[in-house]
Amino acid sequence: MRIIVDTDPGVDDAFALFYLAAEPDVEIVAVGSVHGNAPTPVTTANSLRLLELLGLEHVPVARGALRPLAQPLMTAEAVHGDDGLGGFAGPEPRTEPVDESAAEQLVRLARQNPGKLTLLALGPLTNVALALQLEPELPKLLAKVVVMGGALTVPGNITSYAEANFWHDPEAADLVLDAGFGDLTIIGLDVTMESHADTAWLTRLAEIDGPIAKYARDIVGFYANFYESFLGKPGFVPHDSLAVAIMIDPDLATYREERLAIELTGRHTRGQLVADLRYLAPGSPFDRDIAKDRTPAKYAVTVDTATFLERH
Ligand code: BDR
Ligand code: CA
Repeated sequence: MRIIVDTDPGVDDAFALFYLAAEPDVEIVAVGSVHGNAPTPVTTANSLRLLELLGLEHVPVARGALRPLAQPLMTAEAVHGDDGLGGFAGPEPRTEPVDESAAEQLVRLARQNPGKLTLLALGPLTNVALALQLEPELPKLLAKVVVMGGALTVPGNITSYAEANFWHDPEAADLVLDAGFGDLTIIGLDVTMESHADTAWLTRLAEIDGPIAKYARDIVGFYANFYESFLGKPGFVPHDSLAVAIMIDPDLATYREERLAIELTGRHTRGQLVADLRYLAPGSPFDRDIAKDRTPAKYAVTVDTATFLERH
């Protein structure tokens, strides 16, 4: 599988990259950075650092959007630390980002490899929305899109109703959901919050030798402390790694096929992922009234947590 990763590292984004790098059947063709967990200059440097650590410095990193489409920049240092990697990002990267933007890189690679590439989006969807403005045919050019974002039948995390990635750029997320991607899988909090990496998982990480495991242990402390204060139990939630695991093995999850939208105007609910979830009998005179003209996406609703945590 050949993939483009759009990411805002971010501790769980880092774990997702570690996971991808260990998969023999996955080739990371390129990375795009985006604002979200930290500002884009920080997530760009972190993308470069992480690829260097993984021996993947040949993978191009393109800088992404500096801010959301229609709201001020808001970042999440309280969750991921000022450097986005729990205070342990490390020295400046040796490598540099490429000259084109993340949106331009995505469009160019999709045009050069029609029907061949999977897009894995682990942060706010600003770059993907900008790419759709540059190339409206993008949905036909990508083989598959997997997005980490949203909370459909469970509460949000950054607000009561909104999940962080969609809340950081609601307009961009809504454009992506409206773009007509034929194979769009969304991994939201409905499954990621079920996939808590607990003390036993952290103990296993402590037993692994080598520089990547050591780096992983260093960066995870701040994030795990945040999750312990948020959830009241030790461990952390590896949202983005679960998206990787399900991209590689879709049978790890079950799905609802839904036409999805983002709440853009709600005073308390801006950024919320919405769908018409009413039970409506076939042929019901009550028409579905949310996003009814959109292409349905696969939204994950259950996951085999034990298998995921073993693989992660
Ligand atoms: C998402 O937001 C960020 O904190 C994580 O990196 C993940 O992509 C979870 O809501
Ligand atoms: Ca992320």
